[in-house]
Amino acid sequence: MAETPVQVVILAAGQGKRMHSNLPKVLHPVAGKPLVQHVIDTARTLAPAKLVVVYGHGGEVVRSTVAAPDVSWARQEPQLGTGHAVAQALPALAGAGQTLVLYGDVPLTLASTLKRLLQAGRDGLSVLTMELSDPTGYGRIVRDGAGNVRRIVEEKDATPVEKAIREVNTGIMAIPSARLGDWLGRLSNTNAQGEYYLTDIVALAVAEGIPVRTAHPDNQWEVLGVNSKVQLAELERVQQRNLADAMLVAGVRLADPDRIDVRGDLTHGRDVFIDVGCVFEGRVELGDAVEVGPYCVLKNVKIGAGAQIAAFCHFDDATIGPDAVVGPFARLRPGAELGPEVHIGNFVEVKKSRLAARSKANHLAYIGDAEVGERVNVGAGTIVCNYDGANKYKTIIEDDVFIGSDTQLVAPVTVGRGATLGAGTTLTRDAPPDALTISRARQTTVPGWVRPKKAQK
Ligand code: UD1
Ligand code: CA
Repeated sequence: MAETPVQVVILAAGQGKRMHSNLPKVLHPVAGKPLVQHVIDTARTLAPAKLVVVYGHGGEVVRSTVAAPDVSWARQEPQLGTGHAVAQALPALAGAGQTLVLYGDVPLTLASTLKRLLQAGRDGLSVLTMELSDPTGYGRIVRDGAGNVRRIVEEKDATPVEKAIREVNTGIMAIPSARLGDWLGRLSNTNAQGEYYLTDIVALAVAEGIPVRTAHPDNQWEVLGVNSKVQLAELERVQQRNLADAMLVAGVRLADPDRIDVRGDLTHGRDVFIDVGCVFEGRVELGDAVEVGPYCVLKNVKIGAGAQIAAFCHFDDATIGPDAVVGPFARLRPGAELGPEVHIGNFVEVKKSRLAARSKANHLAYIGDAEVGERVNVGAGTIVCNYDGANKYKTIIEDDVFIGSDTQLVAPVTVGRGATLGAGTTLTRDAPPDALTISRARQTTVPGWVRPKKAQK
């Protein structure tokens, strides 16, 4: 099928007063991504010849947030209506093919729906419409006796008979680019809102004998816009359910598809299981057969095949090797790299440290700025003292080291291969390989010692 070139205009100049926020409306996130970014990403799948975002007063932050080489910008100031908004994009547009108008605050339209709309409008103009049981607030699609679209009337300009029409304008339209400039130039603002309505171009097309057709979304949520935090929260749930369903279809086992939040890109292998209440942010990769326990927060994490993550873990910028066992209550901070079969247990924090294969820190430890070899056993209560209040230093723990409980390693320090550190050691100098190093004071018992007593009153 030969495609006509498509140009996309995204309207994003509206104020969003009802959001009660300093953040521009179109930058509020759904599934961790700004509303307008969803629209841009979907538009991109149509391979548009041009992608123009119309932004408004105070929208510089919109520009800087979603800037990309393929996105052009048109400023609309003041905002005099949807027709006026599209007119601001005209200088950036070519006169060929179709111009698709999208809204920056309608984030979840599917590309398949837009393709259907473009197809319907190939020889004219097309409008994405739907039937609503309660059409209040929307523009209504006025058809003639033969069912042909005649015009769109806004709610505020509609007669009682027109208000009874249940087919509404979603706002999304595909317009012949060659006619766009002329039509926009002929809009007037003599209407109830004193605005230049984009919707008025429908009557202009009809007057010229240009076919006007409609297409419809498969799902109502595809055309829902965000005007308030209530609607933002509703679309968040819709999108989370969409993402969860896609994961189920792809073979992930979810304990409950309504209790998972993905705010970024989650990729997965086969036979992955995710328990309830987990939050995934940024880029998360789960290898084959990974299991994630309940209530974990994973941000920018790569987890190797077969690894098991127990409940209540918090990972940020970390890599976990295959068959590792982590948690419950483990914290991996930026630069934590766990090798294959590493075990990290409860209340263990790892930062900017590498633990090689089969090393274990099973209870209550802090490992920071350390290089840990293979098969190392880090005892309970071990602290790497990496920070002297001004600078951070490295600690090296070589293969097969055994660190007794409640040990402090005062960096910079190296523990040689096969060394053992006795429990309670405060290591301030390097420990030689294959030897027991211990800094504990010798145990004594004081004869005749009496425990102090409270004075009797
Ligand atoms: C518009 C349609 C209406 C449709 C409804 C669907 C018109 C005249 N009406 O009405 O038929 O049923 O959307 O939601 O088009 N915007 C600008 N600049 C402006 C005005 C708006 O960029 O000057 C942007 C807004 O940010 C928003 C979109 O255009 O993303 C729609 O604006 P909005 O004011 O919500 O339009 P409605 O009056 O709801
Ligand atoms: Ca609206």
